[in-house]
Amino acid sequence: MSEPTLTYGRYLKVPELLSLQSCLSTPPHHDEALFIIIHQVYELWFKLVLHEVDSAVELLGADRVEEATRLLRRVVEIQQLLVHQVRILETMRPQDFLGFRYHLNPASGFQSVQFRELEFALGMKDAAVLAAIRCLPEEEQRLRGRLASPSLPDSVDGLLVRRGFAKQPVPEPGPDGRSQPEDWRLAALVKIYESPDAHQDLSALCEVLVDIDEALAHWRAHHVQMVERMIGAKRGTGGSDGVGYLRATLPKRAFPDLWRVRTHIGQEPT
Ligand code: HEM
Repeated sequence: MSEPTLTYGRYLKVPELLSLQSCLSTPPHHDEALFIIIHQVYELWFKLVLHEVDSAVELLGADRVEEATRLLRRVVEIQQLLVHQVRILETMRPQDFLGFRYHLNPASGFQSVQFRELEFALGMKDAAVLAAIRCLPEEEQRLRGRLASPSLPDSVDGLLVRRGFAKQPVPEPGPDGRSQPEDWRLAALVKIYESPDAHQDLSALCEVLVDIDEALAHWRAHHVQMVERMIGAKRGTGGSDGVGYLRATLPKRAFPDLWRVRTHIGQEPT
């Protein structure tokens, strides 16, 4: 028997996709559909972002810098969309959210495994997250895998070493699983930023990494602002103190040395 002719809906599994939005409020609150769909869309984009970041790590490991940079540019474009999407949620009024919020307890975006995977993939590894979030065994497995695997900053370090920027090997990760900021890396970045023509591929890579860090910072800032607009100083459904907790995450950076280098370039010799 021959396979049924491929259609748009069969290829993309549209019927299955459209069957995945189940409201908990009864009768369904008008805005719960928005709330569910926006989170599902975020998770789909997170899946693609992880796919691209994983490929970029592999490409950098194979010294294919320009190809990696191209994929990371795609990540930045997706991130811009993710930042902008917060605006759609802001069309919901706080009283609308209260109409179904209590059904969500104790679930929260805090438990987004893919968001944590992304943080880990970008080098912001925190083993304590494993104990703090409730997730499926296979999700925990994925998180543990990411904790143990090289992150994007690790692969950039490896690349810099292979390009001869550091005589010593990449330092061992610190106790929290992250490589410690090292002077050799900052020195390498100063050279790249002061002579971009001599290091064109690395220079383009560094700027796209800054774009990724900046876009994530924008998302965090916009999310916390939206949360304050929605719930004020109420506690989060995930159990944190809400806006106060989220504000404390704002300084997180994946590539702190790429921010520090701005201060160090163009210095007068002493
Ligand atoms: C009405 C909409 C939303 C509200 C009121 C809200 C509120 C919160 C609150 C209060 C937290 C802190 C943890 C807690 O105690 O629950 C949090 C964390 C988080 N939310 Fe949302 N959120 C909303 C929409 C979203 C959306 C659309 C996403 C997209 C995936 C998202 C992703 C996250 C993530 C990833 C965290 C963890 C942040 C971190 O720990 O750095 N949230 N949210």
